[in-house]
Amino acid sequence: MPSSKLLIYGSYGYTGKLIVDECLRRGIKPVLAGRNGTKLKEQAVTHELEYRAFPLDIVSTVAGKLVDIDAVLHCAGPFIHTAEVMSEACLGSGTHYLDITGEIEVFEMMASKSGKAKAAGIVLLPGVGFDVVPSDCLARHASEQMPDARFLKLFISFNGTFSAGTAATAIEHFAKGGSVRKGGAITKVEPGWKTEEVNFISYTGLTVTIPWGDVSTAYYSTGIADIEVYMRLPKKAIKRMKIGRFLQPLTRLAFVRNYLKKKVRRMGDGPDASERKKGETRVLSTVTDDAGNSRSFLQISPEGYTLTARTATDCALRVMNGEANNGFQTPSLAFGSDYIMDFEGVSRQSV
Ligand SMILES: NC(=O)c1ccc[n+]([C@@H]2O[C@H](COP(=O)([O-])OP(=O)(O)OC[C@H]3O[C@@H](n4cnc5c(N)ncnc54)[C@H](OP(=O)(O)O)[C@@H]3O)[C@@H](O)[C@H]2O)c1
Repeated sequence: MPSSKLLIYGSYGYTGKLIVDECLRRGIKPVLAGRNGTKLKEQAVTHELEYRAFPLDIVSTVAGKLVDIDAVLHCAGPFIHTAEVMSEACLGSGTHYLDITGEIEVFEMMASKSGKAKAAGIVLLPGVGFDVVPSDCLARHASEQMPDARFLKLFISFNGTFSAGTAATAIEHFAKGGSVRKGGAITKVEPGWKTEEVNFISYTGLTVTIPWGDVSTAYYSTGIADIEVYMRLPKKAIKRMKIGRFLQPLTRLAFVRNYLKKKVRRMGDGPDASERKKGETRVLSTVTDDAGNSRSFLQISPEGYTLTARTATDCALRVMNGEANNGFQTPSLAFGSDYIMDFEGVSRQSV
């Protein structure tokens, strides 16, 4: 699609850079964008790409920057602060919108704009990274294998580290506590609400409920109204999470959040190339019907940021190619439950 234009906003962030590299590897020349002209210029000169510097403040101004753009791949988070302006600008300019959020509120915001997106003739496809492409495809696959399933649990296991941007986004949401879906409604629960020991096949680990994006998206992808998402964490971290319940009110204060974000920044940007190469992710999906019958499926995929770069780029290309219906979509609604199986290093089994 030589005439299609993809704009990557937040292109000089840790994950944005990986996505730009993946685009170049696939022969796509994206337009770089963000709010820092100096960083953009440096990145644009290095890769001989066009760039546009603009903040995400006034919708009409942002829409003006997108009039010749076919799709925006939005990589500037926490998205709770940026997705509203960018998605409204996309609605105004008739530009497809994709992002790499994992934030429940942002998915719900996008779902609520589905009618507007259809009227504007655009696709709204949030969550095209590790959170939620692999888990969303696996959840839908599990529900297709047990169509009358009433409960869904997803268990996620990383063996790598997080980027500073991901940690900052988690801090931003910590004060809101945990979330699960009960009877179709997103329901608040305490941080570290439930734990379960899980067999990820080659190892076992303790997992804990977390407010992961699938609490929102798996409902749209599977129709299942009761959803819990768990993550494998060290026992010490789970203990701290529970103790953290008492500190939770403190993190409602912006200066406390800013202090924690600065501390996280000092730990470095994110996993380096060798860590990303070594890393691996596993997702276990269990569906259960009213009679208590269960089925479980395990999916193995590459390290989270490597996978994010690949899935985000691929989703954007497919959307520009007209492969997704207009309106709000989840990855599996857009491309099917087997979409994730197209990526190198992904395998799935019934367990
Ligand atoms: N779903 C997934 O699987 C997945 C995977 C990776 C990352 N993420 C999410 O993606 C986001 C970015 O992660 P990262 O690792 O790339 O973080 P990062 O290295 O901190 O980069 C963040 C980028 O966002 C920009 N930005 C932040 N706030 C902005 C605002 N208000 N207006 C304009 N630009 C803004 C930053 O620009 P400045 O430098 O100018 O501030 C920077 O370019 C995080 O929210 C993270 O949780 C999700």
